[in-house]
Amino acid sequence: MISTLNEAQAVSHTLECWHAVPIPRLIAYLSETHIRWIEQEMPSIENLAYRLEPSRTAPAVRFLQRLIRRIQNEMAEHLRKEEAILFPAILKLEQGGSAPMPFGSISNPIAMMEQDHDIERMLWEELRTLTNGYQITAEAGETLKTLYEELAALAHDVSEHAALENRILFPRARRMERLVNPR
Ligand SMILES: [Fe+2]
Ligand SMILES: [Fe+2]
Repeated sequence: MISTLNEAQAVSHTLECWHAVPIPRLIAYLSETHIRWIEQEMPSIENLAYRLEPSRTAPAVRFLQRLIRRIQNEMAEHLRKEEAILFPAILKLEQGGSAPMPFGSISNPIAMMEQDHDIERMLWEELRTLTNGYQITAEAGETLKTLYEELAALAHDVSEHAALENRILFPRARRMERLVNPR
């Protein structure tokens, strides 16, 4: 319980640091992370997962592979929507733009992204359960060991990234819209 509390405090401290960072810099940071996931981390995980063969030490390989692929697909689609729709719209608001956006209020695409984050969190939770918290047995092979290490690192990264969007970027975007279009 204490460690969970400390962890939550550490995360909110990290988030605090982003409150005063200009929106374009925050979005550039988020986008760099998207590119790193898409170009490096997700292909590496996919590659490792599909090198696994079912064995005594890795019995649920096919299920694991399918779940990883499902998470990769969800994430790829989610990141594409943020890059193509939401981030450009937030940057436009930040520049004082008040042109009507095709989706009405910024709150609409934000609500969709928040929903995606909830789905992703559930899928990562399923993966954590399936892999027993990314713990390998002593006799597990090198591929499984590396796969679990990479999955654990990405899971942590994704969760911090979603918190940064949910708790810093999205509220700031909603506030900016109210300033640009007061009702
Ligand atoms: Fe993102
Ligand atoms: Fe996101």
